[in-house]
Amino acid sequence: MTDQPKPSPLQHTGHPGELVGVGEDVWMDVIHKMDEVYSDLLQYEVALEQKNAKLEESQQFILSVLTSMSDILVVCDRNGLIEDVNRSLLDFTGRSLDELRGTSVFDLFADEVARTQARHLLTLYGEASVHDCELPLRARDGSTVPVSLNCTPRYNAVGKSLGMVVTGRPVGELRRAYQALRQAHEDLKRTQQQLLHSEKMASLGRLVAGVAHELNNPISFILGNVHALQRYAGRLGQYLAALHAGESAARLAELRAELRIDRILADLPPLIEGTIEGAERTRDIVDGLKRFSAIDRDEQQPFNLAEVIERAVRWVCKATRESFRVRMTLPAEIPVRGSPGQMQQVMMNLVQNAWDATAELPEPWLDIEARVEGGRATIRFHDNGPGVAEHHLAHIFDPFFTTKVVGKGTGLGLSISYGIVERHGGQLSARNHPAGGAELVIELPVERGGQPAAD
Ligand SMILES: Nc1ncnc2c1ncn2[C@@H]1O[C@H](COP(=O)(O)OP(=O)(O)OP(=O)(O)O)[C@@H](O)[C@H]1O
Ligand SMILES: [Mg+2]
Repeated sequence: MTDQPKPSPLQHTGHPGELVGVGEDVWMDVIHKMDEVYSDLLQYEVALEQKNAKLEESQQFILSVLTSMSDILVVCDRNGLIEDVNRSLLDFTGRSLDELRGTSVFDLFADEVARTQARHLLTLYGEASVHDCELPLRARDGSTVPVSLNCTPRYNAVGKSLGMVVTGRPVGELRRAYQALRQAHEDLKRTQQQLLHSEKMASLGRLVAGVAHELNNPISFILGNVHALQRYAGRLGQYLAALHAGESAARLAELRAELRIDRILADLPPLIEGTIEGAERTRDIVDGLKRFSAIDRDEQQPFNLAEVIERAVRWVCKATRESFRVRMTLPAEIPVRGSPGQMQQVMMNLVQNAWDATAELPEPWLDIEARVEGGRATIRFHDNGPGVAEHHLAHIFDPFFTTKVVGKGTGLGLSISYGIVERHGGQLSARNHPAGGAELVIELPVERGGQPAAD
Protein backbone atom coordinates (compact mmCIF):
# COMPACT_ATOMS: atom_id res chain seq x y z
CA MET A 1 0.00 0.00 0.00
CA THR A 2 1.37 3.41 -0.95
CA ASP A 3 1.20 6.21 1.54
CA GLN A 4 -1.27 8.75 0.30
CA PRO A 5 -2.00 12.01 2.11
CA LYS A 6 -5.29 11.79 3.98
CA PRO A 7 -7.88 14.03 2.33
CA SER A 8 -9.24 16.74 4.55
CA PRO A 9 -12.79 15.87 5.60
CA LEU A 10 -14.10 18.87 3.73
CA GLN A 11 -12.44 17.95 0.45
CA HIS A 12 -14.90 17.01 -2.21
CA THR A 13 -14.30 13.65 -3.88
CA GLY A 14 -15.88 14.77 -7.07
CA HIS A 15 -18.93 12.61 -6.53
CA PRO A 16 -22.06 14.61 -5.78
CA GLY A 17 -23.12 14.31 -2.13
CA GLU A 18 -19.87 12.84 -0.97
CA LEU A 19 -17.23 14.53 1.13
CA VAL A 20 -13.65 13.59 0.55
CA GLY A 21 -12.06 11.65 3.35
CA VAL A 22 -15.28 10.90 5.37
CA GLY A 23 -14.73 7.39 6.52
CA GLU A 24 -17.30 4.69 7.07
CA ASP A 25 -16.95 4.90 10.85
CA VAL A 26 -17.83 8.58 10.79
CA TRP A 27 -20.91 7.81 8.76
CA MET A 28 -21.80 5.07 11.19
CA ASP A 29 -21.51 7.61 13.99
CA VAL A 30 -23.76 10.01 12.21
CA ILE A 31 -26.32 7.31 11.47
CA HIS A 32 -26.17 6.26 15.11
CA LYS A 33 -26.77 9.78 16.31
CA MET A 34 -29.64 10.17 13.87
CA ASP A 35 -31.14 6.95 15.19
CA GLU A 36 -30.89 8.25 18.71
CA VAL A 37 -32.41 11.56 17.81
CA TYR A 38 -35.16 9.76 15.94
CA SER A 39 -35.99 7.49 18.85
CA ASP A 40 -35.92 10.50 21.19
CA LEU A 41 -38.30 12.22 18.86
CA LEU A 42 -40.58 9.21 18.90
CA GLN A 43 -40.58 9.20 22.68
CA TYR A 44 -41.33 12.90 22.75
CA GLU A 45 -44.18 12.32 20.38
CA VAL A 46 -45.64 9.54 22.52
CA ALA A 47 -45.32 11.67 25.65
CA LEU A 48 -46.84 14.61 23.83
CA GLU A 49 -49.75 12.50 22.68
CA GLN A 50 -50.31 11.25 26.21
CA LYS A 51 -50.23 14.79 27.51
CA ASN A 52 -52.56 15.88 24.80
CA ALA A 53 -55.00 13.10 25.66
CA LYS A 54 -54.88 14.13 29.33
CA LEU A 55 -55.37 17.75 28.39
CA GLU A 56 -58.35 16.86 26.26
CA GLU A 57 -59.74 14.75 29.05
CA SER A 58 -59.46 17.56 31.61
CA GLN A 59 -60.84 20.04 29.07
CA GLN A 60 -63.76 17.68 28.53
CA PHE A 61 -64.19 17.40 32.30
CA ILE A 62 -64.22 21.16 32.79
CA LEU A 63 -66.65 21.53 29.90
CA SER A 64 -68.98 18.88 31.30
CA VAL A 65 -68.92 20.56 34.72
CA LEU A 66 -69.57 23.97 33.23
CA THR A 67 -72.34 22.58 31.04
CA SER A 68 -74.13 20.80 33.84
CA MET A 69 -73.89 23.77 36.21
CA SER A 70 -77.33 25.19 36.86
CA ASP A 71 -75.82 28.50 37.96
CA ILE A 72 -74.88 30.94 35.24
CA LEU A 73 -71.17 31.59 34.70
CA VAL A 74 -69.34 34.34 32.78
CA VAL A 75 -65.58 34.64 32.40
CA CYS A 76 -64.41 38.12 31.43
CA ASP A 77 -61.16 39.96 30.90
CA ARG A 78 -59.91 42.96 32.82
CA ASN A 79 -62.08 45.29 30.77
CA GLY A 80 -65.21 43.33 31.50
CA LEU A 81 -65.35 41.83 27.99
CA ILE A 82 -66.82 38.35 27.87
CA GLU A 83 -64.34 35.57 27.08
CA ASP A 84 -66.44 32.53 27.82
CA VAL A 85 -69.80 31.56 29.33
CA ASN A 86 -71.49 28.30 30.27
CA ARG A 87 -74.61 26.66 28.86
CA SER A 88 -76.86 28.06 31.63
CA LEU A 89 -76.03 31.61 30.60
CA LEU A 90 -76.66 30.81 26.92
CA ASP A 91 -80.04 29.35 27.90
CA PHE A 92 -80.77 32.29 30.18
CA THR A 93 -79.97 34.99 27.60
CA GLY A 94 -81.05 33.00 24.53
CA ARG A 95 -77.87 34.11 22.73
CA SER A 96 -74.94 32.14 21.26
CA LEU A 97 -71.38 32.18 22.54
CA ASP A 98 -70.20 33.85 19.32
CA GLU A 99 -72.70 36.66 19.83
CA LEU A 100 -71.64 37.17 23.41
CA ARG A 101 -67.87 36.78 23.13
CA GLY A 102 -66.15 40.17 23.15
CA THR A 103 -69.22 42.07 24.33
CA SER A 104 -69.32 43.77 27.72
CA VAL A 105 -70.54 41.75 30.69
CA PHE A 106 -72.45 44.85 31.77
CA ASP A 107 -74.71 44.56 28.70
CA LEU A 108 -76.23 41.49 30.35
CA PHE A 109 -77.86 43.65 33.02
CA ALA A 110 -81.48 44.68 32.66
CA ASP A 111 -81.26 48.48 32.66
CA GLU A 112 -78.95 51.41 33.06
CA VAL A 113 -79.43 51.57 36.84
CA ALA A 114 -78.43 47.93 37.22
CA ARG A 115 -75.50 48.43 34.82
CA THR A 116 -74.20 51.36 36.83
CA GLN A 117 -74.54 49.41 40.06
CA ALA A 118 -72.83 46.40 38.52
CA ARG A 119 -70.00 48.53 37.15
CA HIS A 120 -69.54 50.08 40.54
CA LEU A 121 -69.55 46.75 42.32
CA LEU A 122 -67.61 44.63 39.89
CA THR A 123 -64.94 47.16 39.04
CA LEU A 124 -64.63 48.77 42.42
CA TYR A 125 -64.22 45.39 44.05
CA GLY A 126 -62.50 43.89 41.01
CA GLU A 127 -59.57 42.96 43.16
CA ALA A 128 -61.67 41.38 45.89
CA SER A 129 -64.74 39.12 45.81
CA VAL A 130 -68.40 40.13 45.67
CA HIS A 131 -70.89 37.81 47.39
CA ASP A 132 -74.64 37.39 46.96
CA CYS A 133 -75.29 40.74 45.40
CA GLU A 134 -78.77 40.85 43.89
CA LEU A 135 -79.08 42.60 40.49
CA PRO A 136 -81.54 42.18 37.60
CA LEU A 137 -80.39 40.57 34.32
CA ARG A 138 -82.23 40.60 30.99
CA ALA A 139 -83.63 37.11 30.29
CA ARG A 140 -84.17 35.55 26.83
CA ASP A 141 -87.85 36.58 26.71
CA GLY A 142 -86.92 40.19 27.48
CA SER A 143 -88.12 39.98 31.07
CA THR A 144 -86.11 41.21 34.03
CA VAL A 145 -84.93 38.45 36.37
CA PRO A 146 -83.26 39.24 39.68
CA VAL A 147 -80.09 37.20 40.05
CA SER A 148 -77.93 36.69 43.10
CA LEU A 149 -74.39 37.31 41.84
CA ASN A 150 -70.95 36.34 43.04
CA CYS A 151 -67.83 37.73 41.45
CA THR A 152 -64.28 36.52 41.98
CA PRO A 153 -61.09 37.97 40.47
CA ARG A 154 -59.09 35.69 38.19
CA TYR A 155 -55.27 35.55 38.21
CA ASN A 156 -52.65 33.91 36.04
CA ALA A 157 -49.87 31.63 37.31
CA VAL A 158 -47.72 34.57 38.43
CA GLY A 159 -50.58 36.32 40.21
CA LYS A 160 -51.35 38.90 37.56
CA SER A 161 -55.02 39.88 37.35
CA LEU A 162 -56.68 38.50 34.22
CA GLY A 163 -60.22 39.66 34.85
CA MET A 164 -63.05 38.04 36.78
CA VAL A 165 -65.46 35.17 36.96
CA VAL A 166 -69.10 36.04 37.59
CA THR A 167 -71.53 33.35 38.74
CA GLY A 168 -75.17 33.81 39.63
CA ARG A 169 -78.43 32.11 40.38
CA PRO A 170 -81.87 33.46 39.59
CA VAL A 171 -83.35 34.50 42.90
CA GLY A 172 -86.67 32.86 42.05
CA GLU A 173 -84.94 29.51 42.26
CA LEU A 174 -83.39 30.45 45.58
CA ARG A 175 -86.77 31.54 46.84
CA ARG A 176 -88.33 28.25 45.72
CA ALA A 177 -85.55 26.32 47.45
CA TYR A 178 -86.02 28.44 50.54
CA GLN A 179 -89.77 27.87 50.49
CA ALA A 180 -89.29 24.10 50.12
CA LEU A 181 -86.90 24.22 53.07
CA ARG A 182 -89.35 26.24 55.08
CA GLN A 183 -92.14 23.82 54.26
CA ALA A 184 -89.96 20.87 55.31
CA HIS A 185 -89.15 22.69 58.54
CA GLU A 186 -92.84 23.37 59.19
CA ASP A 187 -93.69 19.69 58.55
CA LEU A 188 -90.95 18.65 60.91
CA LYS A 189 -92.19 21.01 63.59
CA ARG A 190 -95.73 19.67 63.18
CA THR A 191 -94.55 16.07 63.45
CA GLN A 192 -92.58 16.99 66.54
CA GLN A 193 -95.65 18.66 68.02
CA GLN A 194 -97.70 15.53 67.30
CA LEU A 195 -95.09 13.38 68.96
CA LEU A 196 -94.94 15.71 71.93
CA HIS A 197 -98.69 15.51 72.07
CA SER A 198 -98.66 11.73 71.98
CA GLU A 199 -95.99 11.67 74.71
CA LYS A 200 -98.27 13.90 76.75
CA MET A 201 -101.24 11.66 76.01
CA ALA A 202 -99.23 8.62 77.09
CA SER A 203 -98.24 10.22 80.38
CA LEU A 204 -101.81 11.43 80.77
CA GLY A 205 -102.95 7.83 80.31
CA ARG A 206 -100.59 6.66 83.04
CA LEU A 207 -101.67 9.56 85.19
CA VAL A 208 -105.38 8.88 84.76
CA ALA A 209 -104.85 5.24 85.76
CA GLY A 210 -102.87 6.39 88.82
CA VAL A 211 -105.40 9.03 89.74
CA ALA A 212 -108.31 6.62 89.35
CA HIS A 213 -106.62 4.27 91.79
CA GLU A 214 -105.79 7.12 94.13
CA LEU A 215 -109.33 8.50 94.11
CA ASN A 216 -110.85 5.09 94.60
CA ASN A 217 -109.67 4.91 98.19
CA PRO A 218 -111.07 8.16 99.71
CA ILE A 219 -114.20 7.98 97.61
CA SER A 220 -114.98 4.45 98.76
CA PHE A 221 -114.59 5.35 102.40
CA ILE A 222 -116.62 8.57 101.96
CA LEU A 223 -119.27 6.42 100.36
CA GLY A 224 -119.14 3.87 103.22
CA ASN A 225 -119.40 6.66 105.79
CA VAL A 226 -122.28 8.34 104.00
CA HIS A 227 -124.15 5.03 103.82
CA ALA A 228 -123.64 4.58 107.58
CA LEU A 229 -124.79 8.17 108.16
CA GLN A 230 -127.87 7.47 106.07
CA ARG A 231 -128.73 4.46 108.22
CA TYR A 232 -128.05 6.44 111.40
CA ALA A 233 -130.23 9.33 110.15
CA GLY A 234 -133.18 6.93 109.80
CA ARG A 235 -132.73 5.60 113.32
CA LEU A 236 -132.23 9.07 114.80
CA GLY A 237 -135.37 10.25 112.98
CA GLN A 238 -137.30 7.34 114.43
CA TYR A 239 -136.09 8.17 117.95
CA LEU A 240 -136.82 11.90 117.57
CA ALA A 241 -140.32 11.14 116.31
CA ALA A 242 -140.97 9.03 119.47
CA LEU A 243 -139.59 11.84 121.59
CA HIS A 244 -141.87 14.42 119.97
CA ALA A 245 -144.84 12.08 120.22
CA GLY A 246 -144.42 12.25 124.04
CA GLU A 247 -143.71 8.54 124.52
CA SER A 248 -143.10 7.41 128.09
CA ALA A 249 -139.61 7.55 129.54
CA ALA A 250 -139.51 3.73 129.76
CA ARG A 251 -140.49 3.35 126.07
CA LEU A 252 -137.94 5.99 125.10
CA ALA A 253 -135.17 4.22 127.02
CA GLU A 254 -136.19 0.93 125.39
CA LEU A 255 -136.16 2.55 121.94
CA ARG A 256 -132.84 4.22 122.69
CA ALA A 257 -131.26 0.86 123.43
CA GLU A 258 -132.98 -0.87 120.50
CA LEU A 259 -131.88 1.77 117.96
CA ARG A 260 -128.43 1.92 119.57
CA ILE A 261 -128.66 5.71 119.71
CA ASP A 262 -125.66 6.04 122.09
CA ARG A 263 -123.46 4.08 119.69
CA ILE A 264 -124.65 6.32 116.85
CA LEU A 265 -123.76 9.41 118.87
CA ALA A 266 -120.30 8.03 119.63
CA ASP A 267 -119.79 7.03 115.97
CA LEU A 268 -120.88 10.35 114.47
CA PRO A 269 -117.72 12.45 115.10
CA PRO A 270 -115.23 9.93 113.62
CA LEU A 271 -117.61 9.26 110.73
CA ILE A 272 -117.88 12.96 109.95
CA GLU A 273 -114.14 13.48 110.42
CA GLY A 274 -113.39 10.54 108.15
CA THR A 275 -115.73 11.89 105.53
CA ILE A 276 -114.14 15.32 105.72
CA GLU A 277 -110.69 13.76 105.46
CA GLY A 278 -111.76 11.72 102.45
CA ALA A 279 -113.23 14.79 100.82
CA GLU A 280 -110.00 16.68 101.53
CA ARG A 281 -107.90 13.94 100.02
CA THR A 282 -110.13 13.97 96.96
CA ARG A 283 -109.70 17.73 96.77
CA ASP A 284 -105.90 17.37 97.02
CA ILE A 285 -105.84 14.82 94.25
CA VAL A 286 -107.96 17.05 92.04
CA ASP A 287 -105.64 19.88 92.97
CA GLY A 288 -102.68 17.83 91.87
CA LEU A 289 -104.47 17.03 88.64
CA LYS A 290 -105.08 20.69 88.02
CA ARG A 291 -101.38 21.33 88.47
CA PHE A 292 -100.57 18.59 86.03
CA SER A 293 -102.89 20.02 83.44
CA ALA A 294 -101.07 23.33 83.85
CA ILE A 295 -97.90 21.74 82.49
CA ASP A 296 -97.64 24.12 79.57
CA ARG A 297 -97.82 27.23 81.68
CA ASP A 298 -94.49 28.59 82.67
CA GLU A 299 -95.40 28.95 86.30
CA GLN A 300 -93.18 30.53 88.89
CA GLN A 301 -94.44 29.55 92.29
CA PRO A 302 -92.80 28.24 95.43
CA PHE A 303 -93.65 24.62 96.17
CA ASN A 304 -92.46 21.62 98.13
CA LEU A 305 -90.70 19.22 95.80
CA ALA A 306 -90.88 16.42 98.38
CA GLU A 307 -94.67 16.41 98.05
CA VAL A 308 -94.42 16.36 94.27
CA ILE A 309 -92.06 13.37 94.40
CA GLU A 310 -94.36 11.48 96.76
CA ARG A 311 -97.37 12.18 94.58
CA ALA A 312 -95.52 11.13 91.41
CA VAL A 313 -94.50 7.85 93.03
CA ARG A 314 -98.06 7.21 94.23
CA TRP A 315 -99.53 7.88 90.83
CA VAL A 316 -97.08 5.80 88.83
CA CYS A 317 -96.85 2.87 91.25
CA LYS A 318 -100.50 2.45 92.13
CA ALA A 319 -101.30 2.28 88.45
CA THR A 320 -98.78 -0.43 87.83
CA ARG A 321 -97.74 -3.40 89.90
CA GLU A 322 -97.60 -4.51 93.46
CA SER A 323 -94.09 -5.95 93.65
CA PHE A 324 -92.31 -2.71 92.71
CA ARG A 325 -90.85 -1.29 95.92
CA VAL A 326 -90.00 2.38 96.13
CA ARG A 327 -87.92 3.48 99.13
CA MET A 328 -88.03 7.20 99.67
CA THR A 329 -85.59 9.04 101.92
CA LEU A 330 -86.76 12.61 101.65
CA PRO A 331 -86.57 15.63 103.92
CA ALA A 332 -90.03 16.91 104.88
CA GLU A 333 -89.44 20.07 102.87
CA ILE A 334 -87.59 20.65 99.60
CA PRO A 335 -88.52 24.25 98.82
CA VAL A 336 -88.09 25.10 95.16
CA ARG A 337 -89.59 27.66 92.80
CA GLY A 338 -91.12 26.98 89.41
CA SER A 339 -93.86 24.80 88.03
CA PRO A 340 -95.00 21.92 90.26
CA GLY A 341 -96.88 20.42 87.30
CA GLN A 342 -93.79 20.29 85.13
CA MET A 343 -91.67 18.92 87.98
CA GLN A 344 -94.26 16.25 88.54
CA GLN A 345 -93.95 15.23 84.91
CA VAL A 346 -90.17 14.88 85.42
CA MET A 347 -90.57 12.78 88.56
CA MET A 348 -93.24 10.58 87.01
CA ASN A 349 -91.03 9.96 84.00
CA LEU A 350 -88.05 8.97 86.14
CA VAL A 351 -90.16 6.62 88.25
CA GLN A 352 -91.78 5.19 85.12
CA ASN A 353 -88.36 4.62 83.49
CA ALA A 354 -87.16 2.76 86.59
CA TRP A 355 -90.34 0.75 86.57
CA ASP A 356 -89.86 -0.15 82.89
CA ALA A 357 -86.17 -1.01 83.40
CA THR A 358 -86.93 -3.42 86.25
CA ALA A 359 -90.06 -4.95 84.76
CA GLU A 360 -88.49 -8.40 84.31
CA LEU A 361 -87.02 -8.66 87.81
CA PRO A 362 -88.54 -10.73 90.63
CA GLU A 363 -87.77 -8.04 93.20
CA PRO A 364 -87.67 -4.71 91.45
CA TRP A 365 -86.88 -1.64 93.48
CA LEU A 366 -86.19 2.06 93.21
CA ASP A 367 -84.41 4.16 95.82
CA ILE A 368 -85.22 7.85 95.85
CA GLU A 369 -82.96 9.84 98.09
CA ALA A 370 -83.05 13.61 98.41
CA ARG A 371 -80.72 15.93 100.25
CA VAL A 372 -80.69 19.67 100.72
CA GLU A 373 -77.22 21.08 101.21
CA GLY A 374 -75.53 24.38 100.53
CA GLY A 375 -78.53 25.93 98.82
CA ARG A 376 -78.98 23.02 96.45
CA ALA A 377 -81.19 19.97 96.48
CA THR A 378 -79.87 16.69 95.10
CA ILE A 379 -82.36 13.97 94.28
CA ARG A 380 -81.05 10.54 93.28
CA PHE A 381 -83.13 7.85 91.57
CA HIS A 382 -81.33 4.53 91.78
CA ASP A 383 -82.97 1.33 90.53
CA ASN A 384 -81.85 -2.29 90.35
CA GLY A 385 -82.46 -2.67 86.60
CA PRO A 386 -79.76 -3.47 84.05
CA GLY A 387 -78.61 0.17 83.83
CA VAL A 388 -77.98 2.01 80.57
CA ALA A 389 -75.66 0.47 77.96
CA GLU A 390 -72.40 2.49 77.92
CA HIS A 391 -72.82 3.45 74.25
CA HIS A 392 -76.36 4.69 74.97
CA LEU A 393 -75.40 6.93 77.88
CA ALA A 394 -74.53 9.85 75.61
CA HIS A 395 -77.89 9.62 73.81
CA ILE A 396 -80.59 9.00 76.40
CA PHE A 397 -81.34 12.74 76.66
CA ASP A 398 -81.73 13.07 72.89
CA PRO A 399 -85.30 13.56 71.75
CA PHE A 400 -86.82 10.37 70.35
CA PHE A 401 -84.04 8.13 71.67
CA THR A 402 -85.68 5.03 73.05
CA THR A 403 -84.82 1.36 73.44
CA LYS A 404 -88.42 0.49 74.12
CA VAL A 405 -90.69 -1.24 71.65
CA VAL A 406 -92.88 0.83 69.36
CA GLY A 407 -95.90 2.11 71.23
CA LYS A 408 -94.23 1.72 74.62
CA GLY A 409 -91.99 4.76 74.63
CA THR A 410 -91.63 7.84 72.50
CA GLY A 411 -88.13 8.59 73.72
CA LEU A 412 -89.19 12.09 74.72
CA GLY A 413 -89.45 11.58 78.47
CA LEU A 414 -85.84 12.31 79.39
CA SER A 415 -85.35 15.03 76.79
CA ILE A 416 -88.43 16.90 78.05
CA SER A 417 -87.35 16.30 81.65
CA TYR A 418 -83.88 17.63 80.89
CA GLY A 419 -85.36 20.85 79.50
CA ILE A 420 -87.71 21.27 82.46
CA VAL A 421 -84.95 20.78 85.05
CA GLU A 422 -82.73 23.20 83.15
CA ARG A 423 -85.51 25.82 83.10
CA HIS A 424 -85.64 25.44 86.89
CA GLY A 425 -81.96 26.34 87.07
CA GLY A 426 -80.89 22.76 87.68
CA GLN A 427 -79.27 19.80 85.99
CA LEU A 428 -80.32 16.26 85.19
CA SER A 429 -77.60 13.66 84.68
CA ALA A 430 -77.36 9.90 84.35
CA ARG A 431 -74.78 7.26 85.13
CA ASN A 432 -74.57 3.59 85.90
CA HIS A 433 -74.33 3.05 89.64
CA PRO A 434 -71.17 1.20 90.77
CA ALA A 435 -73.45 -1.22 92.63
CA GLY A 436 -75.51 -1.86 89.45
CA GLY A 437 -78.60 -0.27 87.96
CA ALA A 438 -79.11 3.21 86.60
CA GLU A 439 -78.79 6.37 88.66
CA LEU A 440 -80.49 9.54 87.52
CA VAL A 441 -79.56 12.64 89.50
CA ILE A 442 -81.36 15.97 89.66
CA GLU A 443 -79.66 19.00 91.13
CA LEU A 444 -81.76 22.06 91.79
CA PRO A 445 -81.38 25.37 93.59
CA VAL A 446 -83.62 25.52 96.67
CA GLU A 447 -85.11 28.68 98.02
CA ARG A 448 -85.74 30.03 101.45
CA GLY A 449 -88.31 32.69 102.23
CA GLY A 450 -89.23 33.06 98.61
CA GLN A 451 -85.64 33.89 97.64
CA PRO A 452 -83.16 31.48 96.12
CA ALA A 453 -81.04 30.27 99.01
CA ALA A 454 -77.59 31.66 99.43
CA ASP A 455 -74.88 29.21 100.45
N1 LIG B 1 -83.68 3.79 84.75
C1 LIG B 1 -83.26 3.39 83.55
N2 LIG B 1 -82.61 2.23 83.37
C2 LIG B 1 -82.19 1.83 82.16
N3 LIG B 1 -82.36 2.56 81.02
C3 LIG B 1 -83.00 3.72 81.13
C4 LIG B 1 -83.50 4.23 82.37
N4 LIG B 1 -84.07 5.42 82.16
C5 LIG B 1 -83.96 5.67 80.83
N5 LIG B 1 -83.34 4.66 80.21
C6 LIG B 1 -83.02 4.57 78.78
O1 LIG B 1 -83.17 5.84 78.19
C7 LIG B 1 -84.08 5.78 77.11
C8 LIG B 1 -84.78 7.10 76.96
O2 LIG B 1 -85.64 7.35 78.05
P1 LIG B 1 -86.86 8.36 77.88
O3 LIG B 1 -87.54 8.49 79.16
O4 LIG B 1 -86.33 9.59 77.23
O5 LIG B 1 -87.75 7.65 76.79
P2 LIG B 1 -88.63 6.33 76.95
O6 LIG B 1 -88.82 5.99 78.38
O7 LIG B 1 -88.02 5.29 76.07
O8 LIG B 1 -90.00 6.79 76.31
P3 LIG B 1 -91.10 7.73 77.04
O9 LIG B 1 -90.47 8.35 78.24
O10 LIG B 1 -91.44 8.75 76.00
O11 LIG B 1 -92.22 6.84 77.34
C9 LIG B 1 -84.98 4.61 77.42
O12 LIG B 1 -85.57 4.07 76.27
C10 LIG B 1 -83.98 3.63 78.07
O13 LIG B 1 -83.24 2.95 77.08
MG1 LIG C 1 -89.42 7.54 79.80
